[in-house]
Amino acid sequence: MRILIIGSGGREHALAWKIAQSPRVTKLFCAPGNAGIAELAETVPIPAMEIDNLAAFASAQKIDLTIVGPEGPLCAGIVDFFHSHGLRVFGPNKRAAQLEGSKVFSKKILLKYNIPTAAAAIFDNPSDARAHLHRVGVPVVVKADGLAAGKGVIVAEAVAEAEQAITQIMERKIFGAAGAQVILEECLHGEELSVMALVDGRSFQMLASAQDHKRALDGDHGPNTGGMGAYSPTPLLNDQLTGQVAGIFGQTLAALQFEGIEYHGVLYAGLMITERGPQVLEFNCRFGDPEAQVVLPRMNFDLVDAAEATIDGRLDRLPLEWKNEAAVCVVLAAGGYPGPYERDQPIAGLKDAAELDKVHVFHGGTRRNASGRIVTDGGRVLGVTALGGNIERAAQHAYEAVERIHFDGAHFRRDIAARAIRT
Ligand code: AMP
Ligand code: GLY
Repeated sequence: MRILIIGSGGREHALAWKIAQSPRVTKLFCAPGNAGIAELAETVPIPAMEIDNLAAFASAQKIDLTIVGPEGPLCAGIVDFFHSHGLRVFGPNKRAAQLEGSKVFSKKILLKYNIPTAAAAIFDNPSDARAHLHRVGVPVVVKADGLAAGKGVIVAEAVAEAEQAITQIMERKIFGAAGAQVILEECLHGEELSVMALVDGRSFQMLASAQDHKRALDGDHGPNTGGMGAYSPTPLLNDQLTGQVAGIFGQTLAALQFEGIEYHGVLYAGLMITERGPQVLEFNCRFGDPEAQVVLPRMNFDLVDAAEATIDGRLDRLPLEWKNEAAVCVVLAAGGYPGPYERDQPIAGLKDAAELDKVHVFHGGTRRNASGRIVTDGGRVLGVTALGGNIERAAQHAYEAVERIHFDGAHFRRDIAARAIRT
């Protein structure tokens, strides 16, 4: 099979690495890819949002299956466009991808079908939003409707902060059209948990659990980021909670079917484990990043088979088996990230790190410069992942590998998976 992966981050490197192991693959492309992906696949310089150029490439190259990594092209309708050109593609169509693309859309589904979630009200003008804010008070969570690169959610402890969020989103339009509507929502308390599932239109199978670390600094301090590390499995997901989370996926799938939406792809549920059980904070329509970097190395099945079963509605006949080993991923970020960050810093020690047993260094933001050196080219530069007999061992291996890698300005958290090791 000839396969095309779309995207350029650590998630896509993990996808390329896993898919390259399938005996069914004869040729692997990635658009646009990065320096790490280029060692496994032929990289093609077409950006992930250039849907028509990607479809033209897939047709010309007789691609049998395209796998879409990021949410941008999914929400923009890449799957519908590929289908209209007779191309096979893994991911939800535009309507289904609204579960991530529009928080208003997903909140309306959650509320309409009584799926556990925070109480919420939806506004399309700032004065109504402010009046509601003064009625409910704080703490309150303000959310921009559309995609905002992970920055569209403000947990406000003070009224002034919530007011400022409404102004920034709806009047200053800092997220553009994504801020035409806002949600004001009850603030939930508890531990956060993310669970991903493959959904094949009719049934779903949950993937191995994973936990990410969103804050930039140790101890969950500092600003939010795309994710500074992850581990799998998480001890938080006991049998009772697994049953409750499966219930949420079942309810969501039934709701989508009732709405006439056929969902094929990865459905990622961001949950808060509260005293009244797990509640949905958000949905994503794709693999998490860096969650993919710890879940994919634990798969004991062929991801190409699983992707095809997800497309064709045959997941119920495909057992998903997992390695007993745990996985930990430590993200090495560029100086300044998650603010404005440096680029073009030469990276040393990649070979030394990769020589370690059970270590996979997934590239997030890297490129080869004119003289052939691998340099930094993004905020989350590398996802250093290791497997181990348990989480503690996996974390030790990952940090051993991290110590071998150097670039100017590099920073990382030293407490990835520490919470899982303590419990
Ligand atoms: P989201 O993109 O909706 O997952 O929101 C990003 C982050 O905001 C989540 O990971 C939570 O930490 C926080 N968050 C979102 N909704 C709520 C809520 N209703 N209560 C408390 N925290 C929330
Ligand atoms: N790590 C969170 C996400 O991929 O959205």
